[in-house]
Amino acid sequence: MKKQLLLTLALTGLGILSANAQTKKISSSKSIDEKVNTLLSKMTLEEKVGQMTNLTLDAISKTDASGKILEPHEIDEQKLKEKILKYHIGSFQNVAGHAYSREHWYQIISAMQRVALQDRLKIPALYGIDAIHGVTYTLGSTLFPQEIAMAATFNPTLAYQEGEISAYETRASYIPWNFSPVLDVAKNQVWPRIYETFGEDPYLVKTMGAAIIKGYQGNNVGDKYHVTSTMKHFLGYGDPLSGKDRTPAWIPDRYMREYFLPPFIEAVKSGSRTLMVNSSEINGVPVHASKYLLTDVLRKELKFNGIVISDWMDVRYLHTRHHVAATEKDAVALAVNAGIDMCIVPYDYTFYNYLIQSVREGKVPMSRINESVRRILHVKYELGLFDHPVGNPDDYPKFGSNEFKAVSYKAAAEAITLLKNDNNILPLKKNIKVLVTGPAANTMRSIDGGWSYTWQGDQDDQYAADKNTILKAIQQKIGKENVTYEAGSGFDSLQDVNTAVEAAKKVDAVVLCLGESSYTENVGNIDDLDLPAAQIDLAKQMVKTGRPVILVMAEGRPRIITSIANLSAATVMAYIPGNEGANALADILFGDVNPSGKLPFTYPRHANALVNYYRKNIENGNPDDSHGYNPLYEFGYGLSYTAFKYSNLHLSKPDMRDNEMLTVTVDVTNIGSRKGKEAVLLYTSELYASITPDTKRLRAFNKISLQPGETKTVTFKLNTKDISFINDLSQRVTEPGKFKVQIGDQTHDFDYRTSTHYQPDTNGKL
Ligand code: BGC
Repeated sequence: MKKQLLLTLALTGLGILSANAQTKKISSSKSIDEKVNTLLSKMTLEEKVGQMTNLTLDAISKTDASGKILEPHEIDEQKLKEKILKYHIGSFQNVAGHAYSREHWYQIISAMQRVALQDRLKIPALYGIDAIHGVTYTLGSTLFPQEIAMAATFNPTLAYQEGEISAYETRASYIPWNFSPVLDVAKNQVWPRIYETFGEDPYLVKTMGAAIIKGYQGNNVGDKYHVTSTMKHFLGYGDPLSGKDRTPAWIPDRYMREYFLPPFIEAVKSGSRTLMVNSSEINGVPVHASKYLLTDVLRKELKFNGIVISDWMDVRYLHTRHHVAATEKDAVALAVNAGIDMCIVPYDYTFYNYLIQSVREGKVPMSRINESVRRILHVKYELGLFDHPVGNPDDYPKFGSNEFKAVSYKAAAEAITLLKNDNNILPLKKNIKVLVTGPAANTMRSIDGGWSYTWQGDQDDQYAADKNTILKAIQQKIGKENVTYEAGSGFDSLQDVNTAVEAAKKVDAVVLCLGESSYTENVGNIDDLDLPAAQIDLAKQMVKTGRPVILVMAEGRPRIITSIANLSAATVMAYIPGNEGANALADILFGDVNPSGKLPFTYPRHANALVNYYRKNIENGNPDDSHGYNPLYEFGYGLSYTAFKYSNLHLSKPDMRDNEMLTVTVDVTNIGSRKGKEAVLLYTSELYASITPDTKRLRAFNKISLQPGETKTVTFKLNTKDISFINDLSQRVTEPGKFKVQIGDQTHDFDYRTSTHYQPDTNGKL
């Protein structure tokens, strides 16, 4: 049976999203412009600078005598009135400690808007939150797999659906502004924010990022079910040299444009209305002080006209951490002149006072202030805040519904990646006895990760107590009486290993759950990518029992497991799969779901061999060199309980000429005995170029589903932009020469011939 698959994915587009999923380009509609100009003309400098100031919820919350936020949380009316009526603060964010009920969010946002509407110009306040995998800080919300797992699905429709549901639930929490998605290309596998990204490949990041933005924003960010997204963190945050958060990166302009900029270009095209800045420095310039990146590249080249918000305290840090401003006041002028529209201060009036002084002293032009305030007011109008400053509690009956949870489950089920399956040990039979062990086995912290109910996800076991850990999910799957649990080890030190060894001897198989607890940002910094010795020891002890060991990795970045990778009978990468993730994992382990995830990053073999899959040819090493590129698992790797055969890779023409489109087709056959999904990945390689070419680059993908014995022909379109690169003049060009297309084990060469170099965008730089 052979079906012609009509999916013809344009390589730079997102053809699989339904028509109504496409975001209407949010143009600066004339009526909004007029309203903004009228309002702006009435505003004092203080009112304008208030709009540019963003404070955290702590600043308007009641505290005890020692300054600790009161529990239960309460808004401090007096502080709120001072902030808004005296200082005209226009924007707030975050949570004062931990997640709240929808009802409590209603009280917070209503109080804030009530006071905002008492101010002279009645400008509604704008509240923002990190709803980065669902509404992080609202009790009962639908928490999705973290972005890294969403990327492993290779299914942009799921990212789009996650965006839609998260937007619905964010509005159900009365908040119209989401500090998501992370569009950082995760080049350094040590970085603690790898799990917040869509992985190491620019095309994958760009495609998943655009899909989730379209879900967040819908056709109208101002309706009651959509929010504005924040593309972050502009730019180059994903490649700190040391691997530690907010440490320097050295990224030449050419590389910046080749790897880091494309997801932001796509996000601007997708209509994202706000952008957050990278807290760190690139080539010695903190991005918050980079007029080049924030104005020349972002505004002039990308034509972004939304709000640029600083990251947390980062304007002050230009003085206190980066030492590029001699005083805090200089830091404020530097950042605003570079292009910052709004500053997450987030506790005090320093930014407000220094900015007013700087304008009065002529250090920041009034035109710069007007520009920022115009953008901020514009977004407030677009979000519908002037008409509906607070949503209606009755409008969100689907909040936390089973319908929404089913999408989170589906995403986890398509993300979890089978890395090894010796002798088809998986799926396990349901009538066996298993030991579930390891530090990740019985904690929701490894399932939800950071940004879950609290910033670090450290209270996840209390907040998500009604959700299944891996242990509970397996108990439900095969019956409690068939499951023994012993922790065996903590994340960093062995515990009761002997008890675990004895327990292993009495079962048919061991499900060993290793990895990481929850963390984010600098708290997640590590000095060593190796999985801690205690966990490796536990694995070795389990293997020694002679029982088959099913290694499950629940982790946000690829901790090195080389010393045990050959010892396990099977290895499953769970990533950080979200609230429904353990259920999906149990379904995969016991065969109710056929795994279809693929790695969105390179899984390194050694901690000192951190190379991305799109390495340069010289990194491949010589035949006599055993130190060349040799990861444990390649980007894009992932097994299934069935098998897929690729054949008949066909190109519509032997060569491509100026502006021509090449149609690439390949047949994919399910040659196993189970229905399965397969992400079909198309790579190209340029064999010779003026800048050393990457060994290969992902240019398109399409996830298909196949019945046993079924064949589908998958069609891709390849144009000259898809095979372009940034040359040594920082220009995007497609050079004539020989190229190779690779899909699965199939390859095909073609020539590109042209008289002129291809320069696709405005000034050729994008
Ligand atoms: C993070 C951002 C986040 C912000 C507000 C910062 O520390 O870097 O990603 O949006 O806090 O919570």
